[in-house]
Amino acid sequence: MSLWGGRFSEPSAAEFKQFNDSLRFDYVLAPFDLQASKAWAGALQQAGLISTEENQQLQEALSALVKQVAKQPELPLQSNAEDIHSWVEAQLIEQIGATAKKLHTGRSRNDLVATDLRLFCKQFAQHLVTANLAAIENLLSFAQTYQDAMLPGYTHLQRAQPIVAGHWAMAYVSMLQRDVSRLRETIRRLDVSPLGSGALAGTTAAIDREALAHELGFRYASENSLDGVSDRDFVLDLLNAASTGMIHLSRLAEDVIFYCSGESGCFSMSDKISSGSSLMPQKKNPDLFELLRGKTGRVMGHQHAMQITLKGLPLAYNKDMQEDKEGLFDALHTYLQCLQMLAFAIPELKVNKDHAALQAALGYSNATELADYLVSKGVPFRDAHHLTGELVVKAQQQGLALEQLALEDFQHVCELIDNDVYATLDLEYGLQQRKAMGGTAPSAVKVAIKHAQDWLHAA
Ligand code: ARG
Repeated sequence: MSLWGGRFSEPSAAEFKQFNDSLRFDYVLAPFDLQASKAWAGALQQAGLISTEENQQLQEALSALVKQVAKQPELPLQSNAEDIHSWVEAQLIEQIGATAKKLHTGRSRNDLVATDLRLFCKQFAQHLVTANLAAIENLLSFAQTYQDAMLPGYTHLQRAQPIVAGHWAMAYVSMLQRDVSRLRETIRRLDVSPLGSGALAGTTAAIDREALAHELGFRYASENSLDGVSDRDFVLDLLNAASTGMIHLSRLAEDVIFYCSGESGCFSMSDKISSGSSLMPQKKNPDLFELLRGKTGRVMGHQHAMQITLKGLPLAYNKDMQEDKEGLFDALHTYLQCLQMLAFAIPELKVNKDHAALQAALGYSNATELADYLVSKGVPFRDAHHLTGELVVKAQQQGLALEQLALEDFQHVCELIDNDVYATLDLEYGLQQRKAMGGTAPSAVKVAIKHAQDWLHAA
């Protein structure tokens, strides 16, 4: 029996029913629908709308369903129910008959589905926080292992200045820390119960909506019933948090793919996380990281789809809103899986220290040091920049690195240059100089790691 048959003389066409039904994807809301229903039955009793015995009967039947659902996380066999709310009601009627039909007094599927989805989102966002923390922990170990391993740093994908691999990893730690705070902010904002908003205009039941909200673990009850049933900002917020998080994972993945390439060779992956080619026997491919990068588009696509679904939607509930679920569920599961894969993959990455140090030295990546050296001799920075450029060309013409130029060559361009220039051009020296907070000097990276470890312990 459908929830709304009385007004109709014909059943729904099978074609339409198949199109309209959502049970196949909203069954995952079952635990939350049961939780909301238990709280609602309690509120109905307090309002004098059902008796203590009826509430008792409902509580027991709902608890039995909670157990049944816990044992069957996947949709059980075939059911004719339209959605999770109809499914729960049908199960209850089967168990306890007439009393079950009283549960829907004063409520609507509109306030119920909004409540269920918020409960689901709150729990899932917490899983995402935990998964981010685990990934951060592994990035921190990597950073610690490689806190003084030199690596070429790039801008415009041209060698720019040497960095250490630990500094590279700590950049992603910063990003993931922001992702954690974004998720927590999302949880804080979605912590509002729409239950008791009715279909759109509020409920006739004399219930204490704030007490009901607290009973469900929400901080607040929604202020306006029209908004309560039609607000899906929390879905957008969570999809945005997921998209931004995935953007970070995709950038990390791209860096790893590049550093593992034959052209760079600064990183290598263990066999455990690489795949081969069916044709080319020599290949070792970074599929794991390519999937992290690739799945980002899918998550961002779900965010965009939801924005478009909500744009221009009139108040209050419209069936368009049923489209909030599949994309959200897929985006959140994808994001969670990617975070778990990242945490798994980081310990399988290795920096090829000697090779990376050689790579870091190429491309005149110590030219900034030479300019700074000239500044220390009293040359204005703009002129120092120009003179260094001339010296780079001179070295290039002779096929040499800057530090391989003869002193006469240096002095030919600027007579202030002396023998002490060679110490300045040492790559190590350049690294050590960048010791102000946030810089790549191993001493600064050490401090950054310590800060992040303290943050993680408190998180
Ligand atoms: N399955 C529906 C959804 O997910 C539940 C709400 C249905 N409400 C209604 N008035 N048809 O949005």
